[in-house]
Amino acid sequence: MSSASRPTTWLVTGSSRGIGFELVRQLVASSDNLVVAACRTPDKATALKGLKASAKGTLHIVQMDVSDFDSIRASAKQLEPILGEIGLDYLINNAAVASRDLPFALDPEELLQLMRTNVAGPAVVSQVCLPFLEKSVKKIILHISSTAGSLGSTSWIGAGYTSYSMSKAALNMLTLKQKAERPDLTLITLCPGPVKTDMNTENGQLEPEESVAGILKVITSVTAEDSGKFFSHDGKTIPW
Ligand SMILES: NC(=O)c1ccc[n+]([C@@H]2O[C@H](COP(=O)([O-])OP(=O)(O)OC[C@H]3O[C@@H](n4cnc5c(N)ncnc54)[C@H](OP(=O)(O)O)[C@@H]3O)[C@@H](O)[C@H]2O)c1
Repeated sequence: MSSASRPTTWLVTGSSRGIGFELVRQLVASSDNLVVAACRTPDKATALKGLKASAKGTLHIVQMDVSDFDSIRASAKQLEPILGEIGLDYLINNAAVASRDLPFALDPEELLQLMRTNVAGPAVVSQVCLPFLEKSVKKIILHISSTAGSLGSTSWIGAGYTSYSMSKAALNMLTLKQKAERPDLTLITLCPGPVKTDMNTENGQLEPEESVAGILKVITSVTAEDSGKFFSHDGKTIPW
């Protein structure tokens, strides 16, 4: 990137490991990108901090627990000097937690915790990032969802992962509501596929590298007309 050109700016939540980490790793490999890697416990994010040594782009690590709304709001002070002038092109709400619970055995407190982290968290992160998105060129929010939250997909529905599926269906609705309120933004929800991460040790099929390469291809190709769509990492659309 020449010093005169503006970098493309990104914020990724849940960047300590899994898909979030791989997103940051691939993004900072390009000198065109400035990446804010938000993570819950930066002190413990050894691999993430290690990316600084080889990064061609700019990497900022910011503390953010998406289940702690005060923590999200407090991060605005750290974001202001980084994104205040340049704005935020891409917000990727990636952080989430899963549970394998069954509907007639679910713990309502666990359901509420998943809704807090997987739905309310992305909503508050979006609110905090809105002023930075408004200043940017792209103005794109990507919510990392799951086919588990698809009401229309027949391939996935089973009794397990009840709270998780409910949270991702709610996240998908948040996407549509955000689009309705702010047609000037581009709002996308996306399933990364079955990825070999800590969240999916049993059924993961894709390496994080492959899923994330697809995600980045999708998100950098979307246009305003794609706002409100539910994509897969390979660019196909998923039924709501
Ligand atoms: N893997 C799959 O097959 C798959 C399939 C469909 C959708 N997804 C979605 O893809 C996204 C990434 O999942 P993954 O497979 O990479 O999961 P993962 O390996 O379990 O990683 C989850 C990430 O989210 C972070 N996180 C969790 N709770 C957080 C909180 N309260 N505040 C901040 N960060 C928090 C974790 O940070 P800590 O290290 O601090 O815990 C970690 O960095 C999620 O939205 C998930 O639902 C994954």
